[in-house]
Amino acid sequence: MVKRNLFSKLADESNSLFKNESVLQPEFLPDVLPHRDTQINTVATALRPIIDGRRPQNISVIGRPGTGKTSCVKYVLRELDSYSDRVLPVYINCFEYNTRHSILSKITISMGYPVSRRGIATDEVYDKFLEMLKKSGKIPILVLDEVDQILSKPDGMKLLYDLLRIHEWGAGFVGLITISNVLSLGKSADARVYSSLREEDVEFERYTPNELKDILLERSEYAFMPGCLEGDVIPLCAAHGAKNGGDARISIETLWKSGRVAERENSQKVLLEHVRKAINDLSSKKVSKIIENLSPEEKTILSLLSKGEKTTSGKLYKRYLETSKTPVAERTFRNYVSRLESMGLIEAPRSGKGIRGNTKVVSLKVPLQSVSINLNEVEAKKEGEKNA
Ligand SMILES: Nc1ncnc2c1ncn2[C@@H]1O[C@H](COP(=O)(O)OP(=O)(O)O)[C@@H](O)[C@H]1O
Ligand SMILES: [Mg+2]
Repeated sequence: MVKRNLFSKLADESNSLFKNESVLQPEFLPDVLPHRDTQINTVATALRPIIDGRRPQNISVIGRPGTGKTSCVKYVLRELDSYSDRVLPVYINCFEYNTRHSILSKITISMGYPVSRRGIATDEVYDKFLEMLKKSGKIPILVLDEVDQILSKPDGMKLLYDLLRIHEWGAGFVGLITISNVLSLGKSADARVYSSLREEDVEFERYTPNELKDILLERSEYAFMPGCLEGDVIPLCAAHGAKNGGDARISIETLWKSGRVAERENSQKVLLEHVRKAINDLSSKKVSKIIENLSPEEKTILSLLSKGEKTTSGKLYKRYLETSKTPVAERTFRNYVSRLESMGLIEAPRSGKGIRGNTKVVSLKVPLQSVSINLNEVEAKKEGEKNA
C-alpha cells in the first residue's frame, strides 16, 4: 500500500470554509478601503508637493481605534512609493520605538546608514541623519503611529523639535505624518509643536453599522469560499463592531473567529450561532485579562458574586469578612466595589432604600461562566506558582 503523507490526508478531510484566512489578520493591508475616500484624498493632496520636490504639509491623523487610520496612511504611502522614486516612506510604531534615540536610529538606518546598537550618542545619530538626508536626494516621509506614546515625555517632545527643525539646517526636509487617538491628543504638549504638526488635520470618525457591513462584505469575498456565510452573519459582526466604538478591527476579528468556530464544529456554513459563540469567546478573553490584574481582595468580591445572586453592599461586606483572610474597613471595601463597577465587571446601582437611600444592590455584569472559569484559572496559577 502506498503511504500517504499525514498532512495531505488531513487537508483532504478538512473542508475549509476559508478561501484565504490571512486576509482577516490585522496586518493585512487591503487594496480598497471603503468609506475612506475623503481621508485618503486629503492625505494624498497634502503629500502631493513632494512629487515636484517641494515640502509637503505635516499631517495629523486623529481617530479612535479601528477606524482605519493606520491602513489608510499605509495605503497612500504604498501608492506614492510606487509612483515616485523620490520618496522614502518610514513607518514607525511608537509602541515599539518610544525614545528619541530609538526613533532617530530607526530613521537613520532606513536611510542606509548602519547605526550600531551600542555606543553612539543621540545627538550624533541626529547629525548622521542630517548628513544622510543631504546626501541621499530622497525625501523621507516619517509616519509616527501611536504618537501619543511619546507626546507626554520630554524626550519625545525633543524628538519632534528635531524633526520640525530639519529644514533650518539646510539639509533638506522631511514629510511628517503623526497618527493618534482623539482621546489623548493635545493634553500634554507644547502648543507650538502642535500647530506645526497639524498643518493638515485628517479626522477618522467611527464607522456606522452600514459602513462596517460594506467593509466586511468586501473582505469576506477574499476570505471565505463562496456562499458559506449565512445571511445575517455579516450584519451581526458589523453590529458588534459598531456597538464597540465603530471599530472595524473588532468586526473583522469577530468574522474571523466565527469562521473558526464553524470549522471546529464541522459546519458547512458559518451560522449566527457561531458568531454568538465567537463574541462570547472574545469577550471572555478580554474579561480574563482584566481579572488577572485585580487585587486579591477584588477577586474575592467577584467570587462571592459568581453564583449570580443580587445582594446589598452591606450583606456583601459581611460575607467578605467571613471569607477573606485580609479584613478591610468598610470604606475600603466600598472603594473596591466602585472600582469593579467602573471596570464594567459588576453593577451596583443605589436602591433608594436604607439610610439616606444609599444602599447599593450589587450583582455581576459579565457572563457568570467567564468569571468562574477565570477565577479558577487564577487560583490554579497561584497554586502552580506556590508549588514551583
Ligand atoms: N475602510 C476600510 N476598509 C477595509 N478595511 C478596513 C477599513 N478601515 C479599517 N479596516 C480594517 O480594520 C482593521 C483596523 O484598521 P486600522 O487601520 O488598523 O485602524 P486604526 O489604525 O484606526 O486603529 C484593519 O484590519 C483594517 O484592515
Ligand atoms: Mg493604528
